[in-house]
This record gives sequence, structure tokens and C-alpha cells, in this order.
Amino acid sequence: MPTTSVAARFALNLAGLLLLPAASWAADAPPTAASSVMESSFPAPTSAQLQAGAKVAQTCAACHGADGNATSAAFPKLAGQHADYIAKQLHDYRIAKGAKQPARVNAIMNGMAATLTEQQIRDVALYYSRQTFKPGVAFADKKTLKLGESIWMAGIPDRAVPACVSCHGPGGAGMPSRYPRIGGQWQGYLETELQMFRNDRRTNSPEMHDIASRMTDKQIAAVANYAAGLRAPSETVR
Ligand code: HEC
Ligand code: HEC
Repeated sequence: MPTTSVAARFALNLAGLLLLPAASWAADAPPTAASSVMESSFPAPTSAQLQAGAKVAQTCAACHGADGNATSAAFPKLAGQHADYIAKQLHDYRIAKGAKQPARVNAIMNGMAATLTEQQIRDVALYYSRQTFKPGVAFADKKTLKLGESIWMAGIPDRAVPACVSCHGPGGAGMPSRYPRIGGQWQGYLETELQMFRNDRRTNSPEMHDIASRMTDKQIAAVANYAAGLRAPSETVR
């Protein structure tokens, strides 16, 4: 019966996704499936936690927006970003014990992160992760779209750059507790971060350092333009 076989296939797909040790996206997979079955390592926030997070966010709002949708391209959007990832970044902006400088160097954020308690980091991460993400301008640079799309979907084989889609997902939603959401983020910000990974001013991800250091400026700009235009489903579990 056709209905049974569809249901069985769906169940198999789901089981396959749940059993996968790392993200692996079939090119024809529906964009929502995998990210909605991966759970955040953060439990769902209580309303008291969200209120506490909103209070901390008052000190962030001037740059990142009260709801995490920064209106200036100078500041990354935090709305809908995975809570685990936000918390990790806030830790990486601090100087770890025994280290000379933070793993992520940025004068503003190094100062901001240093003032937060563990509790505040957790609360604000949960708060921003639950805000509705508003994506910006799609595919601003039409000329580099093809190049950006091919890097996103297939990587750059002759430079051993892996496909971005394999970790960040078809719509750029990433995966809670593993890969950040980058779809719909500001192009300029994404480009800056790839340059920072490459130039070792952001040393918190050996894998992204390897990837970015094998790319040219032109390739970085093109893939950042493509990622900024992606539209990840907003209902994914964070
Ligand atoms: C004066 C402006 C300003 C304020 C206030 C500010 N930020 Fe930021 N934030 C920035 C800038 C600029 C960056 C990008 C820095 C970089 O390239 O590493 C950033 C980056 C971040 C990131 C990394 C985002 C990513 O996608 O990796 C997080 C998380 C973050 N800020 C959280 C906060 C929180 C939480 C607060 C409030 C407690 C806050 N920021 C306050 C300017 C600000
Ligand atoms: C093997 C998995 C993997 C692949 C493949 C991958 N990434 Fe990443 N990416 C990550 C992880 C993990 C992070 C978070 C690093 C950290 O903890 O700061 C990240 C972070 C980023 C960030 C920073 C996001 C932010 O908000 O600051 C950008 C930009 C990015 N990746 C772009 C890309 C692009 C473009 C490609 C393809 C050329 C790519 N990534 C391929 C795993 C991957």
C-alpha cells in the first residue's frame, strides 16, 4: 500500500537522522527534518529564566536589538541562534585560565563577556535563542551567487574545503549544540568571521580555521553572500 511505504520511508529517514553521529545532509533532504530532531543540550527555559534573560539583554539591546534582530550590519543577529552556541561564544570571549588572550578577540565583546556571571550567560543565551529570527536582504550580490551556492553545496574539492551544507544545513539553520545558525545573518559579519578564523583572531574552532584558511577572499565573500540569503525554517528546535 502506498501510504504504508511512505510512512515506513519516513520512519526510516527519521531513524537514520537520529542515529547519525554527525550532521549529514542528503542534497534532497527536506530542510526541516534533521534540525528538528536534534535537541539542544539546554532544557526548555522556564518563564522566570526568560524574564531574567530579557533583563540581561537590556545591556545588549543597543547593539544586538532587544529581540536579537540587530538592525545594523555591524552587529550579529542573535535571535533564534542556538543557546549552546551563544553560551560557548560568551565563554570564548573571556580569557581562559592560563591563557594570554581570549580565544575570540573583540574589544567590545571581551569587555561585555567579562562582566557576566554564569547564570546571566545561561539566561541571556536562552532568551535570545527563543526570539523570532528576522532574516535580512536575500542574495544582495547576484554576480557571485553561483560560486557561493556551489561552495555551500559542494565545497571546493581542489582545495579540500568541505561543503558548508554538511554541518550548517541546507537552510543554514545549523544544529543545536553542534553548529551555529548562519543562514540569514549579515553578509559582512559572516565574511569578517571567516577572515578572523583564517587570521587566527578567532581561535575557538580548529575546523573553521582549516576551512577558512583554504579559501580565497573572493570565495569567502561569495559564500558569505549566499549564506546571508538562505532562509532557515524558524520553527526548528533550539
Ligand atoms: C556596543 C555593542 C555591543 C554590545 C553592548 C554587546 N555586543 Fe555582542 N557583539 C558585538 C559585536 C561588534 C560582535 C561581533 C564581534 C566579533 O566579530 O567577534 C558581537 C558578538 C556577539 C556574539 C557572537 C555572535 C556569533 O554569532 O558568534 C554574542 C553571542 C554576543 N555578542 C552576545 C552579547 C550579549 C549577551 C551582550 C549583552 C550582555 C552583548 N553581546 C552586548 C557588539 C556588542
Ligand atoms: C565540519 C563541520 C563544519 C563545516 C563543514 C563548516 N562549518 Fe562553519 N562552523 C562549524 C562550527 C562547529 C562552528 C562554530 C565554531 C565556534 O565554536 O565558534 C562554525 C562557525 C561558522 C561561522 C561563524 C558563525 C558566527 O555566528 O560567528 C561561520 C561564518 C561559518 N562557520 C561558515 C562556514 C562556511 C562558509 C562553511 C563552508 C565553506 C562552513 N562554515 C563549513 C562547523 C562547520
